[in-house]
Amino acid sequence: MGNLSCYAVVVPGLETMAGDELNELAAHDVKVEEGGVSFTTTMDGLFRINLRSRIVTRVLIRLASFRAMSFPELYNKSRKVAWEHYIGSQVSVSVRASCKTSKLMHSGRAEQAVSDAVRDRLGMQSQKDAAGAIDAHNMDNEQQILLRIENNQCTISLDTSGERLDRRGYRLHSGKAPVRETIAAAILSWMEWGVDEPLLSPMCGSGTFAIEAAWMAEKRAPGLNHAFPFIHWPIFKQKRWHRAVDKARAMQSSSPARIIASELDAGILKQARENAALAGVGDVISFEQLDVCRLTVPENISAPGLIVCNPPYGDRVKVDVKSLYKTLGAVFSQQFPGWRMAVMVPDQICENALGLKVKKRFKIKHGGRWVHVLHV
Ligand SMILES: C[S@@+](CC[C@H](N)C(=O)[O-])C[C@H]1O[C@@H](n2cnc3c(N)ncnc32)[C@H](O)[C@@H]1O
Repeated sequence: MGNLSCYAVVVPGLETMAGDELNELAAHDVKVEEGGVSFTTTMDGLFRINLRSRIVTRVLIRLASFRAMSFPELYNKSRKVAWEHYIGSQVSVSVRASCKTSKLMHSGRAEQAVSDAVRDRLGMQSQKDAAGAIDAHNMDNEQQILLRIENNQCTISLDTSGERLDRRGYRLHSGKAPVRETIAAAILSWMEWGVDEPLLSPMCGSGTFAIEAAWMAEKRAPGLNHAFPFIHWPIFKQKRWHRAVDKARAMQSSSPARIIASELDAGILKQARENAALAGVGDVISFEQLDVCRLTVPENISAPGLIVCNPPYGDRVKVDVKSLYKTLGAVFSQQFPGWRMAVMVPDQICENALGLKVKKRFKIKHGGRWVHVLHV
């Protein structure tokens, strides 16, 4: 098997950062697009990226791209794909189609055409062997086929990640309006945070920033406990997979990072502690119950560090948002000379209330809305 043509799905706003990360993970032909990044890689690269990416949501491989103006044409062209490489006999298959500005606009019929093509190519006996399993979503050996039809051009992809990669498995509790793990990791990378810089995560909620930072500091591959559907592919190479996992494990080391997470709500703080323990970094992070208005430089820290936070806002959280941003801005300028801060802000009102000079910014989709991440 030669190069695989791949597409990384990412949170809108993180495309460029995901592209940089994919380059670092030795992907080829990296092209940043809206909503994702296309690239090519080998099977080893696919393993490496799924195991080690901190920013990508999922990785698809593109199996075919062709024009189709009728459902029989879609069926015939889909049947030419070498499905026997990816679909074994003991798996369930689901097909999801999206159709846009095309002659074929009925997604259900398009899904059926591709399901039939897979089933017939593989000589499966009954509908249940392939298309019939469409809704069997909880099976860890499900293979998900994605069909995109746009301007009559059909793209058939296969998901290689299974569960979204931001679901790292450590967040038993998610507090109020948590950030996705991929967003937290991206913000830390964007700030070029390194282990030598003390890190404070006030209003830590479920502890996502602190835990992602601890994993980054330990060079822990986020996908080590993830269940990947490619291990069920007939072309799967177990030895090569184990080599990729062993390499990722060997990179890990204990970390001298100083990470302090704080939170007002005692119940949420307890949950953050439990999440950190589950992530294996309970002893790397110090937790403290603290109102952000009392935040000061911890006693044992002399060098300036980084503050990273996602204050409460929006429909999911009811607080006096404006005054909280004002407090945060005042605390930062009075108590933290020489420090840096990355803060998520939902709108101009909160940015004005924060009242700090912005050095750089980017926009991301979080909780269904665009928010700005500010470096102040
Ligand atoms: C949007 S959540 C943070 C989510 C977090 N980034 C995560 O991934 O779980 C905001 C948190 O700020 C906490 N909070 C609200 N007011 C606070 C205050 N005055 N001091 C400290 N924490 C506060 C809330 O309890 C909540 O857990």
